[in-house]
Amino acid sequence: MEFAERVQAVEPAAPFVISNLVTEVEAEGEDIVDLSVGQPDVDTPQNIIDATKDALDAGHTTYTPSNGIMELRESIAGYLQDRFDLEYSSENIIATPGGKHALYETIQAIVDPGDEVIVIDPVWSSYEPMVQLAGGEAIHVDTAPYDFALEPALDDLEAAVSDDTALVMLNSPSNPSGMVFSEAAFGGLRDIAVEYDLPVLSDEIYAELMYEDNEQRSLATFDGMMERTITINGVSKTFSMTGYRLGFMAAPTDHTTQAGKVHSHSVSCASNFVQRAGIEALENTDVDALTDDMMETFEARRDLFVELLEERGIDVPVPEGAFYVMFPIESDDDMQYCKDAVREAGVGLVPGQAFGTPGYVRASLVETEDRIREGIKRLEDAGFL
Ligand SMILES: Cc1ncc(COP(=O)(O)O)c(C=O)c1O
Repeated sequence: MEFAERVQAVEPAAPFVISNLVTEVEAEGEDIVDLSVGQPDVDTPQNIIDATKDALDAGHTTYTPSNGIMELRESIAGYLQDRFDLEYSSENIIATPGGKHALYETIQAIVDPGDEVIVIDPVWSSYEPMVQLAGGEAIHVDTAPYDFALEPALDDLEAAVSDDTALVMLNSPSNPSGMVFSEAAFGGLRDIAVEYDLPVLSDEIYAELMYEDNEQRSLATFDGMMERTITINGVSKTFSMTGYRLGFMAAPTDHTTQAGKVHSHSVSCASNFVQRAGIEALENTDVDALTDDMMETFEARRDLFVELLEERGIDVPVPEGAFYVMFPIESDDDMQYCKDAVREAGVGLVPGQAFGTPGYVRASLVETEDRIREGIKRLEDAGFL
């Protein structure tokens, strides 16, 4: 068979390449400290599980309106208002199978072949492939020289704008660096977007997961941004619901009209009973209690991880949100390093090349402190650190 060039041009998602390898090696009976997966090691809250069962018992197993049931879209609008001061109504919202599909639909709706999309490195591993699948080209703005901060890179960002720029993509708190872009960085990005009349996708999927008192204003609340921002969020991380596959976009209606076509022709709708569980999550869960608990655990692990690296002479910018740590390694091939680390050290990590920052690896803080200590020891003993 012959395959499309734009599909052949992309690689499978790197975190899954490593986590598939981890599963394979575990099946051989090996113990792996698996820091490769991007999902909290926290159970889905019981009220959401119960609501899922109730929805199934009530027979909510049919198709729904393509963009999502009205009650869910109203819940999403209410949640965005309460938590992020964002004023959207139900027609601004599409409920998608995971935030990932909201990203995909957005890119399909905006990017033509030959268009350029500005991404900020380290960038989440699926952004560039999604742009390539639409026939576009990702233009990288690197924040690695600035300890992953965006503000010092704003001039580089402005210099990356061209007549072909169709979209800017932003993710804060960032997967993989855990950095939270400052209000000044958001303000600077706002100025560039307004001056050059650019749409911006703001992926705020980790916005509830902040360490200490870190805060972030939602990009669409900045002056002149509501009409040009596509806000992406979802229940995967905040509510520990990765396997439900439920996310959403909130955007001006001209965008939801176009993206909605991609949505209806590709997935029809998010699963019916999952949408009902989403209503329960957004309306009846104490988000502060849930995320405070989660972040307390992640914070202790982050502090430990950063300290263990420092003891070994590796300094990293301390993550401010999400649950990842990105650190430099001494290897010319970080994919090979990560594959070898699974087999030879029994530790799962994701290569930096997947995030546009070769020479680094990402660790997810999704194992206990004891297991993190064990993982670092194994890496050291096997000569990886
Ligand atoms: C930056 C970022 N955006 C979006 C997503 C999509 O998550 P989901 O499709 O589970 O909602 C992820 C998942 O890892 C992510 O890290």
